[in-house]
Amino acid sequence: MQATESPVRPSMRFDQSALREIHSRVDIATFIAQYVPLRKRGNDLVGLCPFHNEKTPSFHVHPDRGFFKCFGCGVGGDVISFVQKREGVPFNDAVRMLAQKAGIELEPESPQAARMRGERETIFEANRLAAAFFARALASDAGAKARAYLERRAFSRETVARFGLGYAPASWDALVGELQRNAIDLHVAAKAGLVKPKESGGFYDFYRDRLMIPTLASTGEVIAFGGRALGDDEPKYLNTATTPVYTKGRHLFALNVARRAAQREGAFVVVEGYLDCIALHQAGFENAVASLGTSFTLEQVNELRKYAENVFLCFDGDAAGEAAATKAIDIASKVLEHAGSSVRVVLLPPGADPDSYVREHGSQGFQALLKRAKPAIEFRLDPEIDRLRDGFSSPAVIARKAEGLIRAMTSREEWDRWRQYVADRLKVSPDDLRNSRFLTNTANFSPRSNVAGSRYAPVRSSPAGTVEPLSFEREVMSIVLEEPALAVEFAERIRPSSFRDPRYRGIYERIVRHAAEAATTADLMAFFVEDPAALGVLAAEGSRDRSSTVRFGDSGERRAHLERIAQRIEREEVESRYRELRGRIDEAFTAGEPISDELRKESEMLVSKLRKVKA
Ligand code: GTP
Ligand code: MN
Repeated sequence: MQATESPVRPSMRFDQSALREIHSRVDIATFIAQYVPLRKRGNDLVGLCPFHNEKTPSFHVHPDRGFFKCFGCGVGGDVISFVQKREGVPFNDAVRMLAQKAGIELEPESPQAARMRGERETIFEANRLAAAFFARALASDAGAKARAYLERRAFSRETVARFGLGYAPASWDALVGELQRNAIDLHVAAKAGLVKPKESGGFYDFYRDRLMIPTLASTGEVIAFGGRALGDDEPKYLNTATTPVYTKGRHLFALNVARRAAQREGAFVVVEGYLDCIALHQAGFENAVASLGTSFTLEQVNELRKYAENVFLCFDGDAAGEAAATKAIDIASKVLEHAGSSVRVVLLPPGADPDSYVREHGSQGFQALLKRAKPAIEFRLDPEIDRLRDGFSSPAVIARKAEGLIRAMTSREEWDRWRQYVADRLKVSPDDLRNSRFLTNTANFSPRSNVAGSRYAPVRSSPAGTVEPLSFEREVMSIVLEEPALAVEFAERIRPSSFRDPRYRGIYERIVRHAAEAATTADLMAFFVEDPAALGVLAAEGSRDRSSTVRFGDSGERRAHLERIAQRIEREEVESRYRELRGRIDEAFTAGEPISDELRKESEMLVSKLRKVKA
């Protein structure tokens, strides 16, 4: 049996004796039991793995040997790696947390590391002081306006206290003074984003006359602030940019208070706004977090995943919200779409946000919204299926796309279920979907094909030479033979390259080349005297029993017919380019690669062209 892999230990700030101390003083079984219910089995303790979703316990702790191992997901290590994984912190922090718990003094670190850590610690301290200062200001006379604002938005005192809300006074140096009184180096406070350097030297307060919302790390430190204007001032929010302790897009607002509830309920509710999030907590949704203005990131999903496997993504019901939802789903699905986890999407009614929605419809109303949340895959599939109804796509194209989405977004066990879902709605069989990836040439499917009854199978390529000339090829040939001038007129739009039959293509190519010099059918035929085979084809075409094609009474009818053919070719060209592009997008999607803006743009452009050529 393979023992535990040794955890990666990047910077050895601690000497071996400190690590030995931790291992000897911290009993791994007692420690892990605080997080995971464990039952004794032989010399081991077993429980449900906290790192993946399982129904039968395969998570083992070996107290004697000081390590844990999950035979389900393969995760294992010592107590330090447990803390790393559990809290999502780097090795050094895990050691620090354990040392603190066990009362172990750590060896002094290198001067450079100490300086770095010193700066981080100073930032934490400055942020902590600032948060306390803002909270006091909110309670003071100066905070009356901010208190009134909170009251107007129906945020309770308890909520204000729970989230440590505060008020940044309308002053240029109130916080500067507070930090100075506490001997905080203002250069470091500037790095924290709390104060800004003045041109003339010295520093001024960055946040003035704003409602202050602190973001806390899961370890409890204040790492960032959002400052909301109390009126219609612009910008609405001033937020902490990236600092040595805070990276935009890595953290989530309210995670520190939401993670317990999320763990309990197995799910997070993700919203975009600070105040939306706070309003949800107040309404009893204690598993709400906010992604903080940026779009949802992979780092954030990974963070959430440490505590719960399911997320509800809440977005505004407008176009922007839908776009954001699609983006967020793609990100979240990368991590969370596997058996036992799910990503669901809640689109709020237009004009509503989570805050206004709970205020208007109460907790039950919001609960009902969550109940109706669409599984992410459905959210992605439905618009594709709707394209069919709108007539902008063919079943084959949708099937390909749907199959790509199904494979990328769901676990293998669920594929058939979702194939059935799409198949039902497309009125095809799930087998057709399963085979749809191999549909490379979908010339048999026209978007106008009868949707309800459409059936399709992979197009088999015929052996060379046996391709039946398409009727349009014959029609074009017989028309231009009759009236060579039309070959010149349509040369740009009905090109030889559109012909599938090589013989017809070759002959037509020569017709187009010589048509300008030919006034009559006989003139045209004269160009082929040296080529009896071609002449044979032309003669056959010219004398063909017209009942098998179309009879054209006059030049106007002939021109109109070529016009229809030209339009069809143009449409098919755009469609085939579009199919090719969607194929590439699907592939990228399936491979988990990002879809370039270029690809997206071209596909959008083709869609609008498609609409035009169909109009
Ligand atoms: P309310 O409009 O007061 O309900 O605030 P909210 O927190 O619900 O915010 P909203 O839904 O308008 O915006 C969502 C999030 O985007 C906010 O919480 C901020 O993180 C961010 N945001 C909104 N406006 C701004 C802005 O002007 N500047 C910056 N940097 N971020 C903003
Ligand atoms: Mn809001």
